Amino acid sequence: MAPPALAARALGYRVGGAIILEDVTLEVPAGSLLGLIGPNGAGKSTLLNLLNGVIRPSSGSIELNGADVTRLRPARRARLGLGRTFQTSTLFESLSVFENVRLAAQVQRGGTTNFWRAPREADPASAAAHEALERVQLTEQSSRITAGLSHGEKRKLELAILLASEARTLLLDEPMAGVNTQDIPELSALISALHAEGRTVVMVEHHLSVVIGLADTVAVLDSGRLLACGTPEDVIANDDVQRAYLGQPL
Ligand SMILES: Nc1ncnc2c1ncn2[C@@H]1O[C@H](COP(=O)(O)OP(=O)(O)OP(=O)(O)O)[C@@H](O)[C@H]1O
Ligand SMILES: [Mg+2]
Repeated sequence: MAPPALAARALGYRVGGAIILEDVTLEVPAGSLLGLIGPNGAGKSTLLNLLNGVIRPSSGSIELNGADVTRLRPARRARLGLGRTFQTSTLFESLSVFENVRLAAQVQRGGTTNFWRAPREADPASAAAHEALERVQLTEQSSRITAGLSHGEKRKLELAILLASEARTLLLDEPMAGVNTQDIPELSALISALHAEGRTVVMVEHHLSVVIGLADTVAVLDSGRLLACGTPEDVIANDDVQRAYLGQPL
């Protein structure tokens, strides 16, 4: 049987005396879409930071396609096909839409990131960037300065950056944060299409209807612990989950 695309084994993360995450064990089968939900401060972004290597766990281990990557830096994990978007945008605001994607594609391919030298058109990173922008329907915006994009367009641009990097496993931290309600269906459809192509997705998202619609498995974090994990229907019906969310919308 194929190993899970991503696995957390008894992960713990402490800062000073504070326990941020404790004993989190989670397997994400290849090709599945896991929705990660939980109240503010539950540890969702911290878990993604551990999974992609921005921070190191205090205990436990992380596997990517069956290989232990616990000690690998984020760039090494990225080269193994793990892509990540952040809760707040990390785009180069003063560069064009196209340059944002091309630079990411170039870094992924191990090339130099010389801002000043014009890329050759035949450059594989440029080709990947064009294709990714077309995929998220941002081709018309490709020469615009990124700062001028709407929140929804910036979120699509972040997905294009992942596509151009050829990441097979995507960690998305609130990919719909800050976008207008009318942009949510388009972003949902895009994430659904990435999943349908066989990519593995871990998505932190507060829009519960989106999570239920897209995820085949939902994991719930609460105060740094995994409270429940199962099908969307089972998780929503779970008494512990209901109690954890009592008084606030899921
Ligand atoms: N480096 C750090 N030092 C101290 N506390 C931290 C650190 N990183 C995270 N925390 C704390 O860990 C907890 C979990 O934070 P995290 O950002 O992972 O939550 P979250 O589930 O992503 O929340 P949100 O839904 O608001 O994005 C919070 O209480 C946060 O204040
Ligand atoms: Mg967060």
